[in-house]
Amino acid sequence: MQDKILDFLKLKQDISGAHPERLSSAGVTHQLHTKFIGRKVYYFQKVVSTMDVAMQWVTKGACEGALVLAETQTKGRGRLGRFWSSPKYKGLYFSLILKPKILPSEASIFTLMAAVSICEAIKETTELEPQIKWPNDILIQNKKVGGILTELDAEMDEVRFLVIGIGLNVNNDKAGIVLGATSLKEQKKEEINRLSLLQEILRRIEDNYLVFQKEGPRPVLKKWRDFNITLGKRVKVNFHKKHIEGVAVDIDVDGALLVRDNPGLIHRFTAGDVTLCR
Ligand code: BTN
Repeated sequence: MQDKILDFLKLKQDISGAHPERLSSAGVTHQLHTKFIGRKVYYFQKVVSTMDVAMQWVTKGACEGALVLAETQTKGRGRLGRFWSSPKYKGLYFSLILKPKILPSEASIFTLMAAVSICEAIKETTELEPQIKWPNDILIQNKKVGGILTELDAEMDEVRFLVIGIGLNVNNDKAGIVLGATSLKEQKKEEINRLSLLQEILRRIEDNYLVFQKEGPRPVLKKWRDFNITLGKRVKVNFHKKHIEGVAVDIDVDGALLVRDNPGLIHRFTAGDVTLCR
């Protein structure tokens, strides 16, 4: 009973805006209206990386849709071992646990699905015009504002779970942003409500996930094409020892990027780093 009263008082404080700059688990689940995404929230002031915490919780049996959310990370990580700067109370740093019944080769679709969901949520809550650079960079005005890191645990023919990590520069000031990147606040010229944005991302991920379960990858790929700035452009792609320059012609049904080089050969990339040529 005492626990319930304490929870109630905390929720009241969280949603009454006593600390508007802070998130909380009660704040996230309040009026979220999803079926399973974000219904269970593990909230921390500071972690090394929400990816590591999510990996620990999922091995202890955390359910599908569980969210690991932190106000700051000391070693937030991006793709290819890069560092993800995570200034406290400024950005959104979270990892989502999913357990879809898919083959390991289909996992990339979930990165694209997260990218689409983030773009839809940014558009809805800020009216900015986000774009996606394959595979996982969220850009505004050609500057990076967010990224996605998908890690998975799988056998040959089955994914046990996916952890989708999302980092977004929301209210970061210029000084706290990596060179060449931007924040939503810098673009919108006003403070952004991180809670509303986070809730909208979670809702969109659930919607897109449910459509994927019913109809497969095509609807999400269609939406991805609408937000993308990679297709039709001349690009350089680096992946391990393979470096290809050519035109990004399409993505296939697994979300792989197809690049046509000058002699006309098509190269298929399931991962890699893309630079748009000027
Ligand atoms: C990228 O663009 O390279 C991906 C960046 C992903 C960063 C997020 S922040 C939350 C989660 N925890 C991490 O350590 N990384 C992801």
